Amino acid sequence: MDVRGDFLVIGSGIAGLRAALSLAEGGDVIILTKADPRESNTGYAQGGIAAAIGPDDSPELHARDTMAAGDGLCVPEAVDVLVREGPRYVGELIDWGAAFDRDADGRPALGREGAHSVRRVLHARDATGREIARLLGSRVGGDRRIRVVDDALATDLVMTGGRCAGAAFVTTSAARGTALAGRTLLATGGAGQVFRETTNPAIATGDGIAMAARAGARVVDLEFVQFHPTVLDVEGAPRFLLSEALRGEGARLINNAGEAFMQRYEPAGDLASRDLVSRAMVREAEGTGSPVYLSLAHLDPDFVRQRFPTIARVCAAGGLDLARDPIPVSPAAHYVMGGVETDLDGRTSLPGLFAAGEVACTGVHGANRLASNSLLEGLVFGARAAAAMKAASRPAALPASDVVEDTVPDKGGDTVPSAYDARDLMWRDVGVVRARPGLERAVAQLQEWAGAVAAGRRSRGSDQELRRISSIVTAGLLIARAALRRAESRGAHFRTDFPSRDDLHWKKHVSDRIGRA
Ligand code: FAD
Ligand code: SIN
Repeated sequence: MDVRGDFLVIGSGIAGLRAALSLAEGGDVIILTKADPRESNTGYAQGGIAAAIGPDDSPELHARDTMAAGDGLCVPEAVDVLVREGPRYVGELIDWGAAFDRDADGRPALGREGAHSVRRVLHARDATGREIARLLGSRVGGDRRIRVVDDALATDLVMTGGRCAGAAFVTTSAARGTALAGRTLLATGGAGQVFRETTNPAIATGDGIAMAARAGARVVDLEFVQFHPTVLDVEGAPRFLLSEALRGEGARLINNAGEAFMQRYEPAGDLASRDLVSRAMVREAEGTGSPVYLSLAHLDPDFVRQRFPTIARVCAAGGLDLARDPIPVSPAAHYVMGGVETDLDGRTSLPGLFAAGEVACTGVHGANRLASNSLLEGLVFGARAAAAMKAASRPAALPASDVVEDTVPDKGGDTVPSAYDARDLMWRDVGVVRARPGLERAVAQLQEWAGAVAAGRRSRGSDQELRRISSIVTAGLLIARAALRRAESRGAHFRTDFPSRDDLHWKKHVSDRIGRA
């Protein structure tokens, strides 16, 4: 099947849907999405969406918290755009009918999360993403200029004369197609599935990063992967996220002796930024030889069950009472701060190709994302990318970064790994705590696998499982070699062999490039 439009959007999460609504004012839009259109990281978002709308808040304060979490690497212009334009786009969601929780005065109730200095997070109980996806999905469904093509896994960008002209796709029944458009937006979301332990749903395999990199686009900051500290850790149960909003409402991390230990590691205690909490948990678990737990037993049980109904239900299914029992938790891969390098309007280094949302890297999150800034990023930068696509703007200069040019070899081993093997390797050697020997091992192995996968792609191009493995291996390799290159610790990137931040050599973004271009 071949389809054509003025604009192509790949992905139906918050960034893709918000962009499509604006693009439809300028032409016909095709949205390609690889699964059910509702299946996205967006749909699983729990805690909420941050915006400086509270009486004690301001864009300046929101910027300060964002930059502090980003550990010296946020691009200030991107942060400025996020915090200043954020309230307007969140207000638009409210005008469109988003059912955010309200306080006693009828104003949006604001939650607190780690490393935020004030309450700033709008939410719909503990299923904020589902509400936003419902709202945007229904508006897209009502717009006759937007056509959603589901079960269409984009596999490669179509490049014509150095310009992106759309994407090739395959369906689950191995039918192939092409979607052609003058301007293409990558909104394919994250890459949590590159790691064995993750909060992300099955769709998050880093396809956009892999596709863009293969076409020659610059990717940047991929060493910065956020590991969310509190993910349900019960044998046989899915790694379900236990929102940071729980700690925002008073939940505490405790060890097997029942001691609340975070204050021993960080002055901000349970509400320190995620990287700090995750590493403290790993150290505590190693030190005690026992798991760590999240405890809400000191809070009002009715409040807990009402405020967090989805999380309470999932815990109950695992035989745990969220309001009473210590809940076993451990970190899991959650969010990729790096991605396809863009300017503030979503332009990538390839003409005709734009990117927004988790797949993109504007530098807004630096080395570590502040909680609940990602949905906001998808809204703000999705809308901005759409505006730039409609204006058909010429490619502009991208933010300065060192470019390392390298190639993923076409020749390598003969064995295509299973997805599990690749994800397991990433978790063991490129996870929460990293060091040179593991990173070198991971890079060498992934490079070998990349060769086998590239050969497989040529002979078994419409095999969806091979495509999934291909994305995991390519995105994994880019993450692993970025982590090996950065010889310091900063934000979410922690190396035992370089445990300190090194501003003299590493206060910079490093881009990478494979493929043509
Ligand atoms: P997504 O929402 O992931 O959408 C990507 C889309 O692209 C999907 O439709 C997918 O099917 C499609 N796609 C991918 N590859 C292809 C392909 N090859 N071909 C076709 N289609 C493709 N952030 C917050 O700010 N607040 C929160 O409370 C919050 N909670 C979270 C809870 C969980 C459990 C998770 C996993 C994440 C959470 N995040 C939160 C992060 C946030 O949800 C995501 O970063 C954000 O939703 C990403 O939006 P997106 O539009 O970029 O991508
Ligand atoms: C959470 O609810 O803890 C996730 C929030 C986020 O990822 O921003």
